[in-house]
Amino acid sequence: MMDSFEFNKIAGAVLGALLFLMGLSIFSSSIFHPQKPKTAGYDLPSAEVASAAAPAAASAVPVAELLAKADPAKGAATAKAACGACHNFEQGAAAKQGPTLYDVVNRPIASAAGFSYSSSLQEKSKSDKQWAFETLNSFITNPKGYASNTKMAYAGEKNDGRRGDILAYLRSLSASPAPIPAK
Ligand code: HEC
Repeated sequence: MMDSFEFNKIAGAVLGALLFLMGLSIFSSSIFHPQKPKTAGYDLPSAEVASAAAPAAASAVPVAELLAKADPAKGAATAKAACGACHNFEQGAAAKQGPTLYDVVNRPIASAAGFSYSSSLQEKSKSDKQWAFETLNSFITNPKGYASNTKMAYAGEKNDGRRGDILAYLRSLSASPAPIPAK
């Protein structure tokens, strides 16, 4: 059996240890001031800044910038692979599943003779009139986003570099290529 003296010694030791820990904790928090962040989580760069400066087009990068960096020769190869199954590119060539794309830049929307366009694209021809670079850019980025019921069963080219190359190639398909927009 433990006598009461022994018990007091142990209790005293435990109490002493607790007091020491308490003192240590008060002391250390007086040295280290943990700074709470003003907002919880990580402070990621805000996407709003970029989109606020961009035009209303589907793509964030202005078409002038895409074209400045584009390579029409690369675009020819990309377009043959991505669009060639449904489109011809030569002057006077017949429509495939889609109309011929020769001279499509600044051509009135849905205007290839004899081609039966979706009502969606015909509707767009009333508001947007012609395939200006920005208009083409948003259609090729996301066809359904531009004309919700388009017959063009193509998911879109989201990569800015590849899309810029395609646009530069389409521009080259003309006797007098359209001027590259300044901005
Ligand atoms: C699966 C077939 C298919 C593929 C792939 C495809 N298109 Fe089309 N495209 C069509 C069809 C069909 C239409 C007509 C759309 C409508 O009437 O809504 C069209 C219409 C267009 C038009 C409008 C032409 C006009 O006369 O108004 C452009 C521009 C165009 N496509 C560009 C492209 C480009 C560039 C690519 C490749 C990056 C591409 N398309 C890939 C089938 C396709």
